[in-house]
Amino acid sequence: MKNTSRILIALAAISFLVSCNNQVAPAIPADKGIEAKVEKTLKGMDLDAKIGQMVQLNIDLVTDDKGLDEAKMARVFGHWKIGSILNVYKGQAQTREKTAELISGIQEASMKYIGIPCIYGLDMIHGASYLSEATFFPQEVNIAATFDPVHAENMGRVMAYETRAAMCPWIFSPVMDLGRDPRWPRLWESFGEDAYLQSVMAVAETKAVQGEDPNEIGPEKVAACLKHYMAYGAPWTGKDRTPAILSEQDMREKFFRPFKESIEAGALSVMVNSASVNGVPTHANKTLLTDWLKDGLNWDGMIVTDWADVNNLFTREHIAADRKEALALAINAGIDMVMEPYDTLCCVDLKAAVEEKLIPMSRIDDAVRRVIRLKYRLGLFENPVWDTSAYDKYASEDFAAQARQAALESEVLLKNEGVLPIKKGSRILVTGPCANYMRSLSGGWSYTWQGTNDPAYVGRFNTIYEALSNKFGSDKVRYVPGVVFDESNWQVDKEQGISAAVSAARQADVVVACLGENSYCETPGNIDDLNLSENQKELLKAVASCGKPVVLVLNEGRPRIIGDIEPLAQAVVDVMLPSNYGADALAELLSGDANFSAKLPFTYPKHINSLHTYDYKVSELVSTMVGDYNYDAVMDVQWPFGTGLSYTSFEYSDLRCNKAEFKSGDVLEFELALKNVGEMAGKEAVLLYSSDMVASLVPDVRRLRAFDKVSLEPGESCLVKLSVPADDLAFVGLDGKWHLEKGSFRFAVANCSITLECTETTIK
Ligand code: BGC
Repeated sequence: MKNTSRILIALAAISFLVSCNNQVAPAIPADKGIEAKVEKTLKGMDLDAKIGQMVQLNIDLVTDDKGLDEAKMARVFGHWKIGSILNVYKGQAQTREKTAELISGIQEASMKYIGIPCIYGLDMIHGASYLSEATFFPQEVNIAATFDPVHAENMGRVMAYETRAAMCPWIFSPVMDLGRDPRWPRLWESFGEDAYLQSVMAVAETKAVQGEDPNEIGPEKVAACLKHYMAYGAPWTGKDRTPAILSEQDMREKFFRPFKESIEAGALSVMVNSASVNGVPTHANKTLLTDWLKDGLNWDGMIVTDWADVNNLFTREHIAADRKEALALAINAGIDMVMEPYDTLCCVDLKAAVEEKLIPMSRIDDAVRRVIRLKYRLGLFENPVWDTSAYDKYASEDFAAQARQAALESEVLLKNEGVLPIKKGSRILVTGPCANYMRSLSGGWSYTWQGTNDPAYVGRFNTIYEALSNKFGSDKVRYVPGVVFDESNWQVDKEQGISAAVSAARQADVVVACLGENSYCETPGNIDDLNLSENQKELLKAVASCGKPVVLVLNEGRPRIIGDIEPLAQAVVDVMLPSNYGADALAELLSGDANFSAKLPFTYPKHINSLHTYDYKVSELVSTMVGDYNYDAVMDVQWPFGTGLSYTSFEYSDLRCNKAEFKSGDVLEFELALKNVGEMAGKEAVLLYSSDMVASLVPDVRRLRAFDKVSLEPGESCLVKLSVPADDLAFVGLDGKWHLEKGSFRFAVANCSITLECTETTIK
């Protein structure tokens, strides 16, 4: 063989090896059978058919007051060849039979007119929100507070089953936005402020929703849609859908992580953040959509816009002159399906953009392949409809028990000066706007978008007042509202008998004051003041003035500031949004029939100008310090991330690691002894943090690296094992690479800590 040939062969081999090394393994391995069918279907489609598959409309466009409208369906499917429909008939929950009937009719029309099944999508966060008898778990922020992914798993499994039982194959869940700004009205929709906790919960939920094989979604599973990609949870104004300004470090280390890990766990679709990040609307951000997500993770799933967000590129963001230009920007950036809820003329603009070569045909084909692939993976071509009567576990007692257990483990005891548990036989006054109200327990995405509960659906569940009456006896429990919510404007509450509440408090042994927020969702939930309302604070001050012990129950989707009234309460419980079984769970906990075990998944602020997350930079403390330039100042928050008390006490000791020194590729195996030294059985969430003592970029003061939840009887001990891959300790450097730097790392669990040495710097 001539030398040149040898060189060429060697070069080819090297370049093959290099390309293999650079090639990220597919997030979802391709299924050859499905891919062949996708190609065949694509070949049979003309441009109009392709464009139709890329558009999603709201159900209003195919229905009228009486149900499905045949003429509208002929137009939507016959003429426009629309590929997807979303959400809910008449804007409110329907029975599963009605939902199944509507979706079956839609599938029939889609098969008749297009020969391709429709993919129907429903919004839900904590249960099948738009099905009137479905099982509602606590909201995601509560699930995070359990620090036990089994609850995310249960929620995902039940939600998928009940959605499938209503003929729907696709849900817009889980949310993994990182609620890092307490002012943001969607904080409660995600698993708190920490990236690791968020990832663990999101992955557990994703797998439970979809099952083990993303190429073959089973009959009790549905496709997940991760949202809202990405960095939606940190708007600098604190208001919904407003810009985020973030470092590349925070973007990659924190906001990207739950999406990456959920996609690696097989997630089939993603919905995009409505806002802009660092000046680029996410819907037009090719780097985030294509480079990071599709190419970077070698992911062949589908990306859908959020509600009318292509339009926002020209009407609100002003980065395009009209819809045609906006569509080109979005599709070229990586959008595959346009949620254009009300306007079919979007198809005309999209076609024009293709014909004018603003969007290459290759991009259209890629987008359509992704839509069609999803439909094949869901088995919709073979079974566009199925027998929903077989789903006999729908709304079962078994599912309710799982939701109740999640609620029980999600309510956080923040303060207890001996008043809890409330002794049986005590006379209890229950007061406050959340005391006898179902709507505040669930929050948004419950029966309706804004959570404006229909009493017909929630009448069978207990309010806090009802649950306490059941537990302590109706002759012992009295309800005087003091303050009530205004039904027509969620932000407004009004005084209703504070003096009557004071008189009742005088007759009681203990006051349970249920304060917080009415339900809201998205932009309508924006507020101008994070402080709890004046009326509610007045109520608490008034009842506390009677000298009776006060248990403050916070029922709220985000931590409203209560710094001035907290000292007046002898106990504080943050139930957040525990939903339909939340009041029963609270009664169990307040009576001591069950023990608290939840911990805060966010930092509870004390002052409006001192909003921090637990993984702050030391220099941030300047904003909370007392005195000048005191870098030893401690963070002045109401309750730190991870706070959560119990009726028992746990003793931590003997934290050790299998290595004193480590480097990239190692796995650090930690062990510690945990003992229940109190008198009641309890569960404890054990949280392990790391601190990088010296780094070339300012390190966060600490980061959560692992956790576990264990159950111990009084006097019982156990060994808790936690493992941390050394590479998890790396950070993104200024060069955009991951740096694990030589030097000391401190690891802490409760009051125990050890310092380990990283012996070499690795940059990847
Ligand atoms: C929300 C999404 C939701 C979508 C569809 C948007 O307004 O931001 O979370 O999935 O509407 O209803």
